[in-house]
Amino acid sequence: MSEQLQRPRRPFGRTELLVDPICIGTAELGFTQKSYGYTIDEERALATARAIFAGPFNFVDTAALYGDGESERRLGVALRELGGLPAGFVLSTKAGRNPQKDESLDADGVRRVVERSQRLLGLERLQMVFLHDPRFSTFEAVMAKGGPFEALAGLRAQGVIQHLGVAELDVPLLRRYVETGEFEAVITHNRYNLLTQEAEPVIAAAQARGMGVMNAAPYGSGILAKGPAAFPRFQYHQATPEILEKARRLEAVCQRHGVPLAAAALQFSLRDPRIHATDVGISRPERIQQTLALSAWPIPEALWAETGNLIA
Ligand SMILES: NC(=O)c1ccc[n+]([C@@H]2O[C@H](COP(=O)([O-])OP(=O)(O)OC[C@H]3O[C@@H](n4cnc5c(N)ncnc54)[C@H](OP(=O)(O)O)[C@@H]3O)[C@@H](O)[C@H]2O)c1
Repeated sequence: MSEQLQRPRRPFGRTELLVDPICIGTAELGFTQKSYGYTIDEERALATARAIFAGPFNFVDTAALYGDGESERRLGVALRELGGLPAGFVLSTKAGRNPQKDESLDADGVRRVVERSQRLLGLERLQMVFLHDPRFSTFEAVMAKGGPFEALAGLRAQGVIQHLGVAELDVPLLRRYVETGEFEAVITHNRYNLLTQEAEPVIAAAQARGMGVMNAAPYGSGILAKGPAAFPRFQYHQATPEILEKARRLEAVCQRHGVPLAAAALQFSLRDPRIHATDVGISRPERIQQTLALSAWPIPEALWAETGNLIA
């Protein structure tokens, strides 16, 4: 049996989508300098996109916002070479504010963005679309008649979108959206990892509703993958002294157990049964095999006990 067939798949919440516990995130194929502190060229981006669709992970995440379409465009180049999304793959994208128009979030805007995603990705139907960063408007305006939610729900009714989710950084606001019961899936990002577990209540609320739960940025945007010395950035900004200190302590515990910090960070999310998919961002083809190795790295229970003391 090929490696691809051996990977576990699980239903993404109450959707019929069968996903790998690891989703490959592609913000890096669009955003670079401002968010991650480096840039990548077209060749590296396309090599990464091609590697993603070669598997073994069958789940890939993008957004219209990433590089204002660049991530979707680059994935689209790889998808066209393959004649479309490979069988068994699940692709999620996100629709929300318009960076070209004062970051505004409105019904026409999200409709236009979804149409552009279809075009850039070369996909007529989008399996999973998340309402992206609704904090750029008010909850009332987003959910009002004629608002962005209704626009996305309309596209779902037409079959353009199969499933609708919500992705938001602000935890109390995200919880409010989850509690509407209108969304089939949720993305928490940068708020549930070895450095912070703020998103805990959202994960619990989503699980109670049978929603698909995607936990993005298990490395806190890179510090837990590359280490605090090499990459002292957290949540897309310079890390605070407190975060750096915590990351160093976690790294020291991992070193004592002979475990890479990245393996512990990835598995912290993977081992939580409420999380259906952990979304790991990459901008290099070799990250696929590295992620596979990190996800399988043997971790003794003693390490979890020690990191548990540090993060409690
Ligand atoms: N609003 C939302 O819904 C939302 C928000 C944020 C993120 N996301 C999604 O979640 C994904 C993950 O978030 P993120 O990328 O910001 O944070 P992350 O997954 O915590 O960290 C990504 C960083 O870790 C590095 N990395 C990954 N594997 C590595 C390895 N094996 N060795 C060394 N470095 C490694 C990557 O470096 P390289 O670039 O060098 O590969 C990248 O810079 C995004 O791509 C996006 O799809 C969604």
